[in-house]
Amino acid sequence: MGMTLSEAKEKLEKYGQEHILKYYETLSGAEREALLAQIDATDMDILEACRHREELTRKGAITPLSVMQLSEIEKNRADFTDTGLKAIREGRVGAVLLAGGMGTRLGSDDPKGMYNVGVTRELYIFECLINNLTEVVRQAGNYIHLFVMTSDKNNDATVSFLREHGFFGYREDYVHFFKQEMAAATDYEGRIYLEEKGKMSTSPNGNGGWFISMKKAGLITFLQKEGIQWLNVFAVDNVLQRIADPCFIGATIQRSCVAGAKVVKKNAPDEKVGVICLEDGRPSVVEYYELTDEMMNARDADGEPAYNFGLILNYLFNTDELLRISEKNLPLHIVEKKIPCLDGEGNPVKPEQPNGYKYENLVLDMIHQMSGCLPFEVVREREFAPIKNKTGVDSVESARELLRKNGVEL
Ligand code: UD1
Repeated sequence: MGMTLSEAKEKLEKYGQEHILKYYETLSGAEREALLAQIDATDMDILEACRHREELTRKGAITPLSVMQLSEIEKNRADFTDTGLKAIREGRVGAVLLAGGMGTRLGSDDPKGMYNVGVTRELYIFECLINNLTEVVRQAGNYIHLFVMTSDKNNDATVSFLREHGFFGYREDYVHFFKQEMAAATDYEGRIYLEEKGKMSTSPNGNGGWFISMKKAGLITFLQKEGIQWLNVFAVDNVLQRIADPCFIGATIQRSCVAGAKVVKKNAPDEKVGVICLEDGRPSVVEYYELTDEMMNARDADGEPAYNFGLILNYLFNTDELLRISEKNLPLHIVEKKIPCLDGEGNPVKPEQPNGYKYENLVLDMIHQMSGCLPFEVVREREFAPIKNKTGVDSVESARELLRKNGVEL
């Protein structure tokens, strides 16, 4: 049995969200039921946090962290690669594609992975990623389980797209989908917006909930059954990144770290990448939109930027350690956003300017919870071609140029 109307009223009153039922009387039976179910499922505890937004992301003492740099990696490449390939061959490595985001900056409502970066032929973002992973599958001689996180908003489109394209040659029984949670979106006072008369505005709850969502989907039992001990978590938008990279996996294992993070030298102090550092003596990440001027401008003894390494969003996590930290809460990030809502007359509007907040957990906060992390440098021109925008910086255009440089035919 779902939530009754009076139970819904009680919950909404507790959180000051009674306006959600404004149009209830005008809804059909099915719409009413759907709204009650949504009210039931929505975590409203988090919403009042918008009143002390700054406190949420307050950090401890920040100091620079040294990174395993290219020269050191080159010296050990063969050895690291052997260790990584051994782990892959023993089935100890899985990969997790974070593809629940909205990709609105690309100006399309389709899942980002469906974007065609090809010029004279079709070459989809998903295809680039699967091609990269397939290279490792060939090298290792065995398949790697790929877990794909989607959200309510893009799951069906993602699943059917990959099916239609035969998973771009990947073995279907090695691909597993799971959905992340949604979170309500509010105005600046923390009042939830209505997107339709019978529906609250929601957005995916950030990429930090991926492990909890895997757990809810029953996939941890699967990991245990398969003996998967390492998960390489990566973003949908970087078409060049090496996935399940044996050298990276081997380096993390050999250095006895429970986590690894691929980083690149930043190309500008204000580049939109999370920055790796130490917080109270332990590895941590400061996301770009929370970076202080002080950190941006800090210099080390050689006059180099002290916080010079940015995350490409390609992490390796040990599954035992993930289980240990899954009991802890991740910090909440409250981000300004353009939220589709209803105007005074109840007509849907798509705002041009930010009009409220979305509530998110971020994968980068997991780094600080881990008992250690190896920051691992990669060559930017070979591994970092994120597609965030249509043109300009981190765009379809810049990614095409980098793909060409790396010998990918477009
Ligand atoms: C992200 C990183 C940033 C990194 C940069 C490199 C986070 C929070 N930020 O920034 O540190 O330097 O990439 O390009 O990791 N996603 C979901 N569900 C969500 C939200 C996002 O699956 O609810 C996925 C997206 O599909 C995408 C990835 O997470 O694959 C990154 O999403 P986005 O929020 O766009 O982060 P960026 O601002 O690009």
